[in-house]
Amino acid sequence: MACHTFPDVAWPRGALGPSLENFGGQGLIAGRLPNQPGVLMQFVRSAPAMVPGTAMPVMPMSDQEARDVTAYLLQLKSR
Ligand code: HEM
Repeated sequence: MACHTFPDVAWPRGALGPSLENFGGQGLIAGRLPNQPGVLMQFVRSAPAMVPGTAMPVMPMSDQEARDVTAYLLQLKSR
């Protein structure tokens, strides 16, 4: 929330990272990785390992949390 904007979340609307309001309709993650569930699960936890030099930090979470976050992100569509 501090770094990204999500649909239906009025505040905070973070702007350091890209808006995730239409993320489910997007072809690429960070402009370079295919937007597929397995890849996204790794990216949300370990972005710097997948995109060296990225400003997106490591976000420690359990396997279940990473699955839930991935499912949430993939259904985001701008409305
Ligand atoms: C669990 C929390 C988070 C999730 C689920 C998440 C998710 C994502 C996703 C899906 C992307 C790819 C966006 C795109 O390709 O359009 C992204 C990129 C990014 N995120 Fe996050 N993020 C989280 C936390 C954060 C935090 C805390 C920060 C800031 C400190 C941050 C900063 C960024 C930045 C700068 C990018 C651009 C990466 C690049 O293009 O190299 N994220 N994030």
